[in-house]
Amino acid sequence: MAARNHTKWKQIPGQIKSGEYVDSRIYSDEDIFKKEMNTIFRKVWIPVCHESELPEPDRFRTTTIAGVPIMVIRDVDGTIHAVRNALERRPSGKIDSKIVFDNIPEFLHSDVKYGGFVWVTLNENPPTMEDWVDGSFDCMKESLNAEPLDVFHYHKAIIPCNYKLWHDTNSEFYHDYLHYHNRITGFNDSYFARENKCFNNGHVNVGSFEVQYDNYDGFESREELSFPHLPTNHWEMIDMFPGINFNLRGSALRVDVMTPLSPDKVMIEFRGLGLKSDTPEERIIRQRHHNSIWGPFGRNLHEDLLAVSTQQGTMHDHAEERRILHGRHENNTIHDEVGMRHYYDEWGRWMDMNPSKPEESYPYEEVKMVA
Ligand SMILES: [Fe+2]
Repeated sequence: MAARNHTKWKQIPGQIKSGEYVDSRIYSDEDIFKKEMNTIFRKVWIPVCHESELPEPDRFRTTTIAGVPIMVIRDVDGTIHAVRNALERRPSGKIDSKIVFDNIPEFLHSDVKYGGFVWVTLNENPPTMEDWVDGSFDCMKESLNAEPLDVFHYHKAIIPCNYKLWHDTNSEFYHDYLHYHNRITGFNDSYFARENKCFNNGHVNVGSFEVQYDNYDGFESREELSFPHLPTNHWEMIDMFPGINFNLRGSALRVDVMTPLSPDKVMIEFRGLGLKSDTPEERIIRQRHHNSIWGPFGRNLHEDLLAVSTQQGTMHDHAEERRILHGRHENNTIHDEVGMRHYYDEWGRWMDMNPSKPEESYPYEEVKMVA
């Protein structure tokens, strides 16, 4: 290949279409970030916690959505509510729910759904949860709804990257080559045949396949503790707009919820869930399965974190803008970037901003992002 000067370096290769790449400024620009908080995060449904974290009346949990403090709390009858929080600084605990309701009259829309997650939105006129998720939970809902779940692992981390980079790493699978564990246990024919499936509102599923855990030295088949209705050792994944991930690996469910803090900072809450009916012995095995891949010292998590934080390092707000390609087309199979194009198409519509050219409004009249 010929050497490139600066002008050539900045050119978009002729065969790459708008919609097949995004401009790096959408990961670093302060104004774009503020607009995302106001136009996207204040409108969407977020699973702020799991019902098992509010095990009895008067138990609460606090968090923020788009910078707005909120509280979820179980009332004396057992129903979970969401309110704007101006009262409580603790992350969780117990408080007289009557006092909360008397002092904070502003209720938010909330719903407990899809395996017992507590979904909240600041949107005053939100779509129903069913409309919002479209068919994206079809691959998993039987497994999540068969019996009560509970949280056995929780940690949160503030990661020096834009929230969309974390969503990208959950959505694309060519970075699997980075994961030694996945290369050893997963690269069979059915892995490469998996398909990305796009749903309304920017959500994407990644098709399932059978993972060969026992190919990894010291690991074991997860057959015995498979979630209900899940073929043994299968792996289902839902990437929800604008940054939520449900990841069911045979015996353990991982859920990532992101709270963007600034263009280059995101808080991620990582939860691991099992069946409430687990015996203590079963629970220990489930935790080991979860943590050996996704715990803070697990096989994969740190590799993903290293990747996204170094990506962000190349895209800070004084760096020259560059383009991140999403132009791979392979009949929707695992390394096709259709899921990325679908996500950024949704992002462009909400923001009325062309993610390929942020100074332009979104080209609604053309079908740009999804072929
Ligand atoms: Fe990964």
